[in-house]
Amino acid sequence: MTSEKLISPYREVDYSPKAWFGGITAEMLPVKEQKKSLDFWKLAVAPQQGEIANSANKLMRKYAQYVPGSDECSSFLISLVMECRERIRNTLISSAYRDHCDIEFVPSMCRGLEVALCRIKGLSRIILSPFEHPSVLSLARWLGNIINADVCQLHFEAKDYHLSPIDQETKMIKMIQDEVDSSCGPTALILSVVNYSTGLVNRTTEIMNHLQKVNDSTLHIILDGAHAAGNYISSVDIDKCWAYVISVHKWLLSPEPCGVIITPRPVKEDEIPYDAWSHSFPATTTNVRVFTSLASSLRAIDRVGLENWRAHSIRLRDYFIRRMHSRLSVIGSNNGTEMTSFIAVRPKSGHFWKWPIKDLSKYLEEQSVYILMLSIDQDTPWLRIAFPYTQNIEQVNELCNILDYAME
Ligand SMILES: Cc1ncc(COP(=O)(O)O)c(C=O)c1O
Repeated sequence: MTSEKLISPYREVDYSPKAWFGGITAEMLPVKEQKKSLDFWKLAVAPQQGEIANSANKLMRKYAQYVPGSDECSSFLISLVMECRERIRNTLISSAYRDHCDIEFVPSMCRGLEVALCRIKGLSRIILSPFEHPSVLSLARWLGNIINADVCQLHFEAKDYHLSPIDQETKMIKMIQDEVDSSCGPTALILSVVNYSTGLVNRTTEIMNHLQKVNDSTLHIILDGAHAAGNYISSVDIDKCWAYVISVHKWLLSPEPCGVIITPRPVKEDEIPYDAWSHSFPATTTNVRVFTSLASSLRAIDRVGLENWRAHSIRLRDYFIRRMHSRLSVIGSNNGTEMTSFIAVRPKSGHFWKWPIKDLSKYLEEQSVYILMLSIDQDTPWLRIAFPYTQNIEQVNELCNILDYAME
């Protein structure tokens, strides 16, 4: 809708609902008027749009026909949860461990990590690898305070990210070991399978093997697979960890948040929290939309094939890297670390962002570009760019033009 003049008793006012209401009115505007956002996952949350969201709504309409608490309603719900569990088991867990693990659903990723931590009897220290998400630090601090466990957040400098994977691993293992050695009792380590800021893969099997050789059973390793499930598809050795926790609203594309705890052994009845969908219904009221959404996204993933979803993202990623090759460097790409469907970039030497971080962020937002700004490097902002299925080559091209303009 073009701007129209409204005559008010006092003055002429520009009628511009887009400016007033922003995204709320976007769908009501004629298509050519809508500015398509370039969503390269500032928040890494699957969209509430498209086929998956429509299918979830359809399942919700079906659910709405039942009376809550009726047998029919319960069997509908149970069948959805069982379907989600089996699809996760068959898609994400390697066959060697499939039959022996327990799969539980909880309201969020962080809640899943919290439950896994609470299952460690007498927990005295929580160690966070240098690559953990800020919300995980908040969770660890909150829980540590309540149960009287201390929290150690390990730290890597920007230059450490340029070490070879083996050197990074050696450095991190030494830092972890120092904290384990000075702990007074059972210790937990939270370790991401894929680094949320760079998209680089941590060699969790090698790290766990090394730490478990040196330490006795007092070290419990909890793998954070928030950015691994559906993105990084090589199998994760879940038998070596205390718990593998994943999130479904990122690369598993579910429009509703939910955490999944995968435990490589049977979970005992008295370890099940009141809000988990574990061996049976949770004690608290179930959020049905979580399961209509997850069933819809897992069905879509199965139909297309996880490899094909991933291939689309990798094609966009590699196109971006080729186009920006002369001006941007990809963190970790020249030291052989395994990459996934998102990357972190910084200007190559001799190139600079035109503006400081705040202005750069403002410029990108004005261009409707949504990417995460990272302040790991004191000298220059790094940008995290994800390539989810919702994007295409034209949008990547547009992003490249916008970033080109932001550099000198
Ligand atoms: C690696 C990682 N772990 C944990 C979380 C927290 O997830 P949630 O906010 O769903 O609890 C995030 C969020 O982006 C993340 O990227």
